[in-house]
Amino acid sequence: MRNSSMNKQAIGIFDSGVGGLAVAQAVHQLLPSEDLLYIADSGFMPYGSKTQDEIRGRCHAIVDYMATQGAKAVVVACNTATMAAIGSLRAHYSLPIVGVEPGVKPALQQSKSGVIGVLATPSTIASQSFQRLCRQQAEDLGRIVFQPCPELAATIEALHLDGDHTEALLRRYCEPLLSQGVDVLVLGCTHYAFIAPLLRRILPSGVSLITTEQAVALQLQRRLAPSYQLGTQLGTQPSATPGRVRLLTSGDSQRFSAQLQVLWPSVENPVITPLHLSCAELG
Ligand code: DGL
Repeated sequence: MRNSSMNKQAIGIFDSGVGGLAVAQAVHQLLPSEDLLYIADSGFMPYGSKTQDEIRGRCHAIVDYMATQGAKAVVVACNTATMAAIGSLRAHYSLPIVGVEPGVKPALQQSKSGVIGVLATPSTIASQSFQRLCRQQAEDLGRIVFQPCPELAATIEALHLDGDHTEALLRRYCEPLLSQGVDVLVLGCTHYAFIAPLLRRILPSGVSLITTEQAVALQLQRRLAPSYQLGTQLGTQPSATPGRVRLLTSGDSQRFSAQLQVLWPSVENPVITPLHLSCAELG
């Protein structure tokens, strides 16, 4: 049974599409009693080819909606959106807002060659926030090489997680990084967690991968811990009421349902609701 004094508002999690489902699963696993409100902004996917202003407009519209639904915290489960909008979201809303950024620091700490690679969307790589992050982190630790992957998120949305086409695409994106001595590869887009098994198969054995969904779930737990009773006992109590997962999409609901069956098959009784949001006008 839930403690009646516990806050029952949902945690809002969003992405341009299915990428954030990897983050939502990590959150659901760590904090299984929490209600989640997941928004896939699939109608505006990909964010990776949009301008920073366009992405910010979508993010504000989504967080506005989450705030009206009483969300107690928001996870921006998208590197591209985090790079474009986290600053303005935090300035605008008093909710705890947790973002996802490419795991450059752990990658540099782990690298033996001192050269790490980042696969990300064109927008993330071009963003000032990402370039600043790399300058700060790389200072003494090593060298970072980047690879924009314009087609990859859409390939994953289409559930081509394996097979010749996706393998060829990944080889094309990874080759320039490997030829520069990269021994740690950062997956700088939440969608890419779903092709990690294929990447592990095709990369040389000495190259490791960094994904960030577990770190994001832990960061969310840390952010909530002071105000809510979260923590290990919640995650392990067998009698704890499982949190509800509500799913909304601005794209095609049937397509999202098919994606969910592959990418999060264990989610219980998924109900998918269509969502139409106009872009927020930002001053
Ligand atoms: N999942 C998003 C990210 O983490 C990007 C996908 C897109 O281009 O829409 O960057």
